[in-house]
Amino acid sequence: MCASCRLKSIVAVLRSLSGCRALDMASGKGRFIATLLPILPVGASFTGVDINPERIDEGRKSLAAKPVTFATMDAAKLEYADSSFDLVTIRDALHNLDDVERVLAEMVRVLRSGGLLLIEEPIYEGVKSPALDTTRAAFRWLAQAKQALGKPGHLPLSKADLLQWIDGLTLDSVSECMSPMDIRCFLEDPSREPPALTEDSPEFLVDCIEHLCDRIRSSSASVASDLQSLAEEAEALKERLGRHGTVPARYFVCLGRMR
Ligand SMILES: C[S@@+](CC[C@H](N)C(=O)[O-])C[C@H]1O[C@@H](n2cnc3c(N)ncnc32)[C@H](O)[C@@H]1O
Repeated sequence: MCASCRLKSIVAVLRSLSGCRALDMASGKGRFIATLLPILPVGASFTGVDINPERIDEGRKSLAAKPVTFATMDAAKLEYADSSFDLVTIRDALHNLDDVERVLAEMVRVLRSGGLLLIEEPIYEGVKSPALDTTRAAFRWLAQAKQALGKPGHLPLSKADLLQWIDGLTLDSVSECMSPMDIRCFLEDPSREPPALTEDSPEFLVDCIEHLCDRIRSSSASVASDLQSLAEEAEALKERLGRHGTVPARYFVCLGRMR
């Protein structure tokens, strides 16, 4: 089945959700909530949780007129009872988490039996493309450089990581796809042709790499061999970015039903 056919069938299952209590983890200001709410049954309400109170405030303002509530909360320690929700979602956030398995376990804990769990995560793989490989390598480098400087830095996830985690959950009838479009783009125009994997200018990533290289050079720990080798790798990476450009992520979309 093609990616947009799979996306279509995932959206069809979401439209037929029974029950109306939905939770979006690491919701930010609620972009995924705004995407999904119109396709849920009449009467459905969403709760968005995020660890960042500023994102929560933005969400409260932008979705004030909708049946949506927000709470500042660590997704790894949800303050909700078991089986409280009919749908639990997470988008573009698993790669930001310190403990993905703990968060997935919390998603499952608060989901009722027969409820739906939806994951949408950008992934830099799935097609043969030097630009995609280079983009993934640049994100890996940025995460490693941040970690070496003592800052939070999260490596991009792979489809294999995600499938392994999902395998460990108590889900039935899991359907997944790698799509060039996220659910929001798909809903805006289901007949739209998937965007071509065109190469973008690498300027943004090169700027981020140079910024971190400056930090490495001025860091008192810059003599450390891991920082030195990162600074050397940066030169090769910038050259690759200049040659191949960057491309947008593809989306891993997965919908499972709780046993
Ligand atoms: C890239 S943003 C995605 C936001 C939103 N899901 C979207 O698609 O627009 C990642 C979000 O994860 C949140 N986050 C990171 N760690 C978290 C945690 N432990 N608990 C809750 N939210 C977390 C961040 O504050 C941030 O808003």
